[in-house]
Amino acid sequence: MTSVAVVPGSFDPVTLGHLDVIERAARLFDEVHVLVVHNPAKTALLPIVNRVQLIEQSIAERQLSGTIVVNSWSVGLLVDYCTEVGARALVKGIRSQVDVAYETPMAIVNRNLAGVETIFLLPDPAHAHVSSSLVRQVSSLGGDISPYVPDVVKRFLDTQ
Ligand code: PNS
Repeated sequence: MTSVAVVPGSFDPVTLGHLDVIERAARLFDEVHVLVVHNPAKTALLPIVNRVQLIEQSIAERQLSGTIVVNSWSVGLLVDYCTEVGARALVKGIRSQVDVAYETPMAIVNRNLAGVETIFLLPDPAHAHVSSSLVRQVSSLGGDISPYVPDVVKRFLDTQ
């Protein structure tokens, strides 16, 4: 049986920390779906279509191996997408206790809703401090974001 996992998130924009999690998920599962989901609790910088393209281009640029599908989801529950593609697991990166507190209720609800388990991966220490919100802030104030994001994201944000 093919093992399928979903790596969900806002990815606004995708960071080197996200790519690390995606790459490691692709080593654990036969098929990984990177799913861009609108999070109404956050003020978006990039349209969803751009976020999807930047993830696709970053995966190509870094030549990540494995079957990695990039998609977006805007209607219904995250677990509905999991059911649609036959995924029994979500994969998320956990950088700190703050992330644990944020992710735990969602993991329990997703398991209760559809039996979808959440697997937490610890980050590479090199990326443990990287977040999309930090990247958005540094970028908007003219700082150098190249240590935190793939080259395609840096080039894209430089044109904005
Ligand atoms: O990168 P983010 O913003 O922390 O990702 C959060 C996200 C999009 C994964 C989360 O908000 C989510 O799962 N949204 C889908 C809506 C849903 O299914 N909610 C119920 C279960 S938590």
